[in-house]
Amino acid sequence: MRQLAVVVLAAGEGTRMKSEIPKVLHEIAGLPLIGHVLATAHSLSANHVVAVLRHKKSDIEGYIAEHFPQTLIAEQDDIPGTGRAVEAAIDALPKGFDGDLVVLSGDVPLLDTQSIGELVARHREANNAATLVSCELDDPNGYGRIVRSGGALKEIVEQKDADAEQLAVTEVNAGVYCFDGPALKEALARVTTDNAQKEKYLTDVAAIMLEAGKGVQAHVISDHWLVAGINDRVQLSEVAAELNRRIVRAWQLAGVTVLEPNSTLIDVTVQLGQDVLLKPSTRLHGLTRVGPGSVVGPDTTLRDTEVGSGANIVRTHAEGARVHDGATVGPFSYLRPGTELGAGAKIGAFVETKNAKIHAGAKVPHLSYVGDAEIGEGANIGAGTIFANYDGEKKHRSTVGKHAKTGSGNVFVAPVNIGAGAYTAAGSTIRRDVEPGALALNTTPQKNLAGWVLEKRPGSDSAKAASEETE
Ligand code: UD1
Ligand code: CA
Repeated sequence: MRQLAVVVLAAGEGTRMKSEIPKVLHEIAGLPLIGHVLATAHSLSANHVVAVLRHKKSDIEGYIAEHFPQTLIAEQDDIPGTGRAVEAAIDALPKGFDGDLVVLSGDVPLLDTQSIGELVARHREANNAATLVSCELDDPNGYGRIVRSGGALKEIVEQKDADAEQLAVTEVNAGVYCFDGPALKEALARVTTDNAQKEKYLTDVAAIMLEAGKGVQAHVISDHWLVAGINDRVQLSEVAAELNRRIVRAWQLAGVTVLEPNSTLIDVTVQLGQDVLLKPSTRLHGLTRVGPGSVVGPDTTLRDTEVGSGANIVRTHAEGARVHDGATVGPFSYLRPGTELGAGAKIGAFVETKNAKIHAGAKVPHLSYVGDAEIGEGANIGAGTIFANYDGEKKHRSTVGKHAKTGSGNVFVAPVNIGAGAYTAAGSTIRRDVEPGALALNTTPQKNLAGWVLEKRPGSDSAKAASEETE
């Protein structure tokens, strides 16, 4: 079997993005552009995968080292152009590498494993020196044009070097190629920077190889989104929207109901179970997983959140949370990292949680903050409860035992432990531990100062209202 190396070009400046962030680190569907391309590159079972870097090298290298550590890194020198970038990649391969070389652009994120597989097969069958992916576009603006004569490929002309006739060509170069390694090396040595951009163009090898009598063909694909390159932020959002359409559609075909595909965002990294129902304006990000039969939305964002089966999450923002089977969340809940909601448990309206383990069947139904706390099975937390976990310097943890029932408007001054089955009175500030089964109340006796308003606020609306009642 012939050896295969895959090269990912990512050394360019990406000036049209007008960004401090390198172009290939801009994200669509939850991964940077280069993440999509490297995932594809590593799916081709190649012998080597090389990324070529230069501009903002250390940022991109950091991402690659973390997520695709088996990638070789090549550094482009100060001669610009995609041809020079590929020369750097060849130098990073083991000496004498004489297999095929697939070249991918770091800014063409949707090209899939299957299309590249077909490209390589076609290349090998035809015994070409180069086979490139091309596509017919309604608007070829910005792309290199495939110039043919008598139907056969003749050369690739960059937009900036093209004459009027060439600009009218609608078949474009996708920037994705399969080459015979040694033939490519030989041709690249003959490419100059004598062009409008003073760059060493990879595209020039096509004409050089043809002149030397070698086979060069275009593999035309019809799905234009697969070849879409991202050069500016308009294209970034257009390609992101298309990728999202494809992800949503794939989940629909796999058994997920999506009520409003246009307002539903799903990252490529998300996993969904059968019969999940996604209501309008739901956004699922990162490592979020939603189990079978759960209902999410409307107006909900989940990031890195695991939801079991049969759960219901309404108008919620959650990050780094776990929601077990049959639990309910929302509306208007904010689940922060370290929140774990047990089976059948409930987090209700206007509740914020953080580092909170709420066991099965427990409820925090209304207007509360639960930080650094553990709430036992079946316990009920009264409306308007605050776990005061922060003393200004350190965070402290509190616990509420199973089947405890705490009153409305409590403040639990951490660290404090409420025993199993204990009750606390409404309006209490609980500073000391409560033993199991006790009722804790620390409310001071209420004092009413009769006639205070008439005396201290004479003539006010309150005083008038009061005197009408007391007449
Ligand atoms: C390139 C092609 C063009 C094709 C288009 C498809 C060339 C000369 N032109 O143009 O025919 O239609 O892609 O999207 O190849 N890069 C480097 N080093 C460099 C310059 C670029 O690694 O010195 C990388 C970039 O980071 C990027 C890719 O190569 O990932 C393409 O570069 P870009 O400048 O976007 O090329 P285009 O003008 O789009
Ligand atoms: Ca480009």
